[in-house]
Amino acid sequence: MKIISTPLELKEQLKDEKRSIGFVPTMGALHEGHIALIKKAKEQNEFVVVSIFLNPTQFLKGEDLDKYPKKDEADKKICKLCGVDLLFFPQANDIYGSDEVSLLAPKVRGYVLEGESRPSHFNGVLTVVMKLLNIVSPKRAYFGKKDAQQLNLISLMVKQLFMNVEIVAVDTVREKDGLALSSRNVYLSASQRQEALKIPTSLRSATAMVMKGLLDSELIIANMREILYPLDISYVAIVNREFTQVDKVEIGNSIILVEASVGDTRLLDNIWL
Ligand code: PAF
Repeated sequence: MKIISTPLELKEQLKDEKRSIGFVPTMGALHEGHIALIKKAKEQNEFVVVSIFLNPTQFLKGEDLDKYPKKDEADKKICKLCGVDLLFFPQANDIYGSDEVSLLAPKVRGYVLEGESRPSHFNGVLTVVMKLLNIVSPKRAYFGKKDAQQLNLISLMVKQLFMNVEIVAVDTVREKDGLALSSRNVYLSASQRQEALKIPTSLRSATAMVMKGLLDSELIIANMREILYPLDISYVAIVNREFTQVDKVEIGNSIILVEASVGDTRLLDNIWL
């Protein structure tokens, strides 16, 4: 596995690459969720590139940028074991200069739900993903369904800016007890981890209601909020695949989303119905 740290070197390395390139952008602290993205990329492409870049522009002031878990050596080993062909490992000054051109998230979809509590977060995500896609020029890029709003906005960017890349959505990986894998789970104490299970429990209960034909969003959300109590809930919402909130679940076109904090740790989860 080759490790490259500058965009110019990476572009030079890939400029004559004829094999199909699958790309998995990450911020490191790799877990089974990332491994699922890499496996999918390996299945569908002849050459797999992973990037590890803790992108400062998607963290707001006071968020966990400084304490975000860093596991560089373990991450390199995981990539190697997963058969990654090339690891892109830049530093912030390889990606950003001063007086930067940047992308703005759409005014509606970028500022609801996660975008409401983290107003410039998606500007940072879209800008870095655009830069990374331009550096790697992959045929396909892989993102987890757990970050459903991020996935939606990246797909929208690719469509609206007529970019030549296929965005592939990969299912959320969960612990045996249902907790969705996240690099932030390491912040949870044993008792907080137990509390956090209210999140997948609320989503399972919502799914059970839908299966019984109870499709009313208000009812489902009220039931979920009861299960989530006393977690600090940022939102519980039901949206369609365009990320517009809906009054009724429509099977095949709905996502039920939760963001709640356990202690200081913000956790996201969702279910696609
Ligand atoms: O989902 C992530 O890990 C990040 O938001 C991404 C897509 C790698 C951009 O920094």
